[in-house]
Amino acid sequence: MKKIAVLVSSTGSTLQHFLENGLSIRAVIADRECDAIGIAQAAGIDVVLMTRTFDASFDRDDYTRQLAGTLCAQDIDLVAMAGWKTVFSPLIFRMYEKRILNTHPSLLPKFKGAHAVRDALRAGVRITGCTVHYAEPELDAGPIIEQAFVRIEDGDTESTLHERIQSVEKPLYLGVIRRMARGR
Ligand code: GRF
Repeated sequence: MKKIAVLVSSTGSTLQHFLENGLSIRAVIADRECDAIGIAQAAGIDVVLMTRTFDASFDRDDYTRQLAGTLCAQDIDLVAMAGWKTVFSPLIFRMYEKRILNTHPSLLPKFKGAHAVRDALRAGVRITGCTVHYAEPELDAGPIIEQAFVRIEDGDTESTLHERIQSVEKPLYLGVIRRMARGR
């Protein structure tokens, strides 16, 4: 079984879903103080808080190198970004090629970026969804592993739609991680 690290920056609802469904997680890494840390700690999981800066002093290569070092030190084989917000330098994707996963709340390659749900609503599409994919240096790119669609209903707001997407996204992502953790 592969040893899994989950990377978090926000509410941790995806992490919570993994834990409630019995996924074995070796480490959680956070790039900032966030609710996900408390969720991990409550489950007795090691949390590594690697805070970053948000100004010109931020050295992306150095941060990426340090994070990759932490993954190696914890003997991690599979990395799952779950609401993670820091963009990595390419070096980590060479070290962990096809071993870093991401999930995104749109049908990639449509609506990349931080406002995917809002952008889908504004574009007036009737169907959107979520995508689990291998992460690559380019943001929200990389080979797609699985997708699921979600219908946009009249009267949807960004939060009602995101909630419906997440109800599909979390089990989809968990299924992919489980499969990969078994080496398939
Ligand atoms: C998910 O919709 C994911 O696609 C996006 O962040 C959301 C998960 O955040 N990248 P969280 O697990 O609730 O923190």
